[in-house]
Amino acid sequence: MIPMPERVYLDHSATTPVARPVLDAMMPYFDARFGNASSLHEFGREARRAVDESRQSLASALGASPDEVVFTSGATEADNLAILGTALRRTQGGHLITSQIEHDAVLRSMEALRPMGFEVTIVGVDEFGRVNPEEVRAALRPDTFLVSIMAGNNEVGTLEPIGEIGRLCRERGVLFHTDAVQALGKVDLPMDSVDLLSASAHKMHGPKGVGLLYVRRGIRLAPLAHGGGHERGVRSGTENVSGIVGFAAALDLALRERAEVTSRMRRLRDRLIREVLKIPATRLNGHQVDSLPHVTNFSFAGIEGESLVMKLDEQGIATSTGSACSSPNLEPSHVLVALCVPLSMAHGSLRVSTGRGTSDAEIDRLLEALPRAVAELREMSPFKVGE
Ligand SMILES: Cc1ncc(COP(=O)(O)O)c(C=O)c1O
Repeated sequence: MIPMPERVYLDHSATTPVARPVLDAMMPYFDARFGNASSLHEFGREARRAVDESRQSLASALGASPDEVVFTSGATEADNLAILGTALRRTQGGHLITSQIEHDAVLRSMEALRPMGFEVTIVGVDEFGRVNPEEVRAALRPDTFLVSIMAGNNEVGTLEPIGEIGRLCRERGVLFHTDAVQALGKVDLPMDSVDLLSASAHKMHGPKGVGLLYVRRGIRLAPLAHGGGHERGVRSGTENVSGIVGFAAALDLALRERAEVTSRMRRLRDRLIREVLKIPATRLNGHQVDSLPHVTNFSFAGIEGESLVMKLDEQGIATSTGSACSSPNLEPSHVLVALCVPLSMAHGSLRVSTGRGTSDAEIDRLLEALPRAVAELREMSPFKVGE
């Protein structure tokens, strides 16, 4: 039997493996320290201490106070809580602003508000996927109460000018939310300009099913989950103690390793871009420099991204066409459409995203398999690709 080469995972924007130190920190909270953090006895107090210490650690990593952190089931819930939670406290409708390249958790939360009488402006982006702060300024209205612009895009990696946008919102007394799922732990975040921030543990080598919303002190949110009044009444539900401990351990690890890991990621990304663009009729989507270190997105003319992902998967290499949530959907990505990537190119997209353990050897494997896979698919394609 021919031995299968080791599988290569290059889809860290979708999710990441839990890092060993994170798993070690979590393990006791599944059995020996299994208590409910609301119980009065020592089992409960032990769990409460773990939640409190983790909250303290995550808050200080964010430059925030512990009372500004609300734990959630992930970033989808954090985005919903930021948007619906601010809107539903209002006595009459109002206006919100977001961008075309946001995650569906933001776009659909905003859409859900329209039938309730709220109005939403969705600003566009330039060819690199950047929001222009002046466009946000021009869209502000007297009844605008929330602007939500992500820190770094999950499909193409482009970094957004959130410091500038946050400052102009502050000047106008408008709340500013950012989805920092892909950026936290990898790039500096201008926390001074941010009022609400969403994050998720499983994108940084932590566990799935736990996230947080940073809520600047003084901001009141309407709860979406009613119950026992956990998380200062904003988000009821028994705390995911092991998950919260894992989240704190994951962010701590990410920050301790950040310089080393992100410089390796940047080097791998630069190499990937240099080599992949040698394939004819190929383009880089997103910004070459103002980008998250771990996300790179290409388009190949004349082929379907899904077929390319499957072909690479046959070689044991895991990549994606874009956002994991929209992968089964054969519509071109809303992000690539917003960047005005020509439709023929938007269908042939490939996202490569690295993690803390990604090596040169793994990128070598991709660089060996990719030109062949593209050539084979083009061979079968009814469209002639100009060399
Ligand atoms: C930018 C962004 N926001 C939100 C989410 C949703 O996060 P979660 O999986 O924690 O609900 C994701 C995950 O794909 C993401 O990339």
